[in-house]
This record gives sequence, structure tokens and C-alpha cells, in this order.
Amino acid sequence: MERKEFLKSIGAGAALAVTFSCLGSCLREELDPNADEDASSGSNSSSTNSVPFTVDLSASEAGKLQNNGGYIIKNNVVIAKNLEGKYVAATVICSHEFKKKVVFKNNEFFCGEHDARFDQNGKGLNKNGSKGLKIYTTSINGSILTVSA
Ligand code: FES
Repeated sequence: MERKEFLKSIGAGAALAVTFSCLGSCLREELDPNADEDASSGSNSSSTNSVPFTVDLSASEAGKLQNNGGYIIKNNVVIAKNLEGKYVAATVICSHEFKKKVVFKNNEFFCGEHDARFDQNGKGLNKNGSKGLKIYTTSINGSILTVSA
């Protein structure tokens, strides 16, 4: 390979590396539940996690919240009734590799992709959960459960 060809190939490779690096970063920001925290206040029009929102506990969509340990997923939020009968909520997007696989299991939040575990305050309980999990606030007024940031 001549010097000119070599330099040309390095230039194309560098451009590709920069492009893929940017694409990866942009995708990560889109899925990172903590990336748009500041931007989401006051507007929820384009946010992936559109909080606040409400759940009518008497509606069929909330049927699984009748029992302790049950959960539903709405607006990318896992809403659960813990084993003590209290409502808790967290993002469905795992902090490990940003898969939308968080559920409520054994009275804690759990991602089945690589078995990350989080307590109900979002604290990681194992290595893959070490980055923690975004937790939302819940409040009840009659049969209406409100999930907010
Ligand atoms: S993406 Fe959730 S444990 Fe890896």
C-alpha cells in the first residue's frame, strides 16, 4: 500500500469511528432515564418517560395492582404494589445496558436481561444493578394513583 492510499484509508476509518461514536452516544442519551431529568420539568411532550401521569386503580388496566406483589407497566414506568401493600414505581429502563426489561419481582425491581437487582429506593443490590434505578413518587387520591418525578 502506498503512503497516499494508507493516509486515505486512515481518514475514512477515523470518520467512521467518530460517526459511530456519536450515534452510540445519542442512542444512550435517548434511553438513559437520567439523561433528560432537567429537560422534563415543565413539559412532557417529547420525553420517553412522560411523568406525571395517573392510573385509575378501579380500571381493568390496573387489575394486577389489586394484589400485593403485582405490577403493571405504563409510560415506561413499572408501577408495583409491594408486599406491604404500598405503591412503588421505577423506570422500566435498566441502568446496566438500558434495556427496557425492568419488572417487579420478589419485592424488588429486577431486570431479566442480566439479572440486575434494585431495592425499592433504586439502590443496586448486585454488580449489574450498581448504577441504581430511577424511582418515581406515587400518591393516591381515592382510586387515582399519581406517578410523578
Ligand atoms: S440491561 Fe438490565 S441487567 Fe443488563
